[in-house]
Amino acid sequence: MIYSKNGMCWCGSKKKYKHCHYDFDQKLLELKLKGEETPPKSIIRNAMDIKAIKESAKINTAVLDAVAERIHEGMSTQEIDDIVVSVTHAHRAKCAPYRYEGYPKSVCTSINEVVCHGIPDPNRILKSGDIVNVDVSTIYKGYFSDASRMFMIGEVSQNAQNLVEVTKQALQAGLDAIVPWGHLGDISHAVQTVAESHGYNVVRVFGGHGVGKQFHEEPFVSHVGQAGTGMILAPGMTFTIEPMINEGTFEVVIDQDDKWTTTTKDGKLSAQWEVMVLITEKGYEILTQ
Ligand code: MF3
Ligand code: CO
Repeated sequence: MIYSKNGMCWCGSKKKYKHCHYDFDQKLLELKLKGEETPPKSIIRNAMDIKAIKESAKINTAVLDAVAERIHEGMSTQEIDDIVVSVTHAHRAKCAPYRYEGYPKSVCTSINEVVCHGIPDPNRILKSGDIVNVDVSTIYKGYFSDASRMFMIGEVSQNAQNLVEVTKQALQAGLDAIVPWGHLGDISHAVQTVAESHGYNVVRVFGGHGVGKQFHEEPFVSHVGQAGTGMILAPGMTFTIEPMINEGTFEVVIDQDDKWTTTTKDGKLSAQWEVMVLITEKGYEILTQ
C-alpha cells in the first residue's frame, strides 16, 4: 500500500501522513529491507489509543492497589475476586478475564507452586508463608490493560522471599534493556540472564503479549532469548513483560480438570511480576503503576 504524503495518516490521527507516521514508516521499511522483523501497523497505537489505554491501565492499578490494601492471611482467594469485581465495576470498567476463553472468574490468583491462571476459590484460604500472584486485567471503553504483583502472606521463607525479589529484578532488567528501535530479544535476554544467574529457571510456554486493543495480541514476549533478535521495538507499541520464574524446572503442568491452573512440574515455587509498557521515541513508559 502506498500512502500519499499529503493524505491522512493511516494511524487515525487525522493528521497529514507527512506530519505523522511518514518518517516512522520510512525507518521501518529500511529495517525491513535489512531483514528485520517489523511490527504490523495494527499494533502501533496513535495518541488517542494511548490516552484510552492509559485510562484503562490507571483503573487496573487502582484495582491492584485495593487488593494490596486488603489482602491478608485467613481470607479466601474468592474474596480477592470479590474485591477485584467491586473495585473494577465502581470505575465503570469490566474484568477482562471473566468468561475469556471460558475462564470462570475475574482475576487470577496463583499461589506458591502455581505458575499462573490460578482460579479464585472460596475454599482456598491464604495462610502464613504463601506467596501469591494476583493478576488483574481491565477493559475500559474497549481498551485493555494487564498487570500483576506478588504478595507475601505472614512469615515467608527466605527461599520464597529471594525468588519473589529476583523475579522483580529480572523484570526490571528487562525494562532497562528497552531501546526504541532495538529488539524484543534484548528484553528476553536481560530477564533470562538475571533469573539464571541466581540458579532459577524461566517458564517458556507462557510469555508477555501485546495488549491494548485486545487482551492478547502481537508480539509474543518471550522471557528467554537472544539480544539483537526478534521484533523491532517501535514507538507506539504496548505490551506486557511478565516473567514467570521457577525455583526448579521451567516445565509446567496444566490441570486437566479445570483446564487453567498451571503448576510447576516439580512442585517447587514460582513467582511472577507483570507490567504493561508503552514504547516511546525516548524509551518507555510503564502504564500500570
Ligand atoms: N492476565 C493473564 C496475562 O497476563 C491472562 C489471564 S487469561 C485468563 O496474560 F483468562 F486467565 F484471565
Ligand atoms: Co499478561
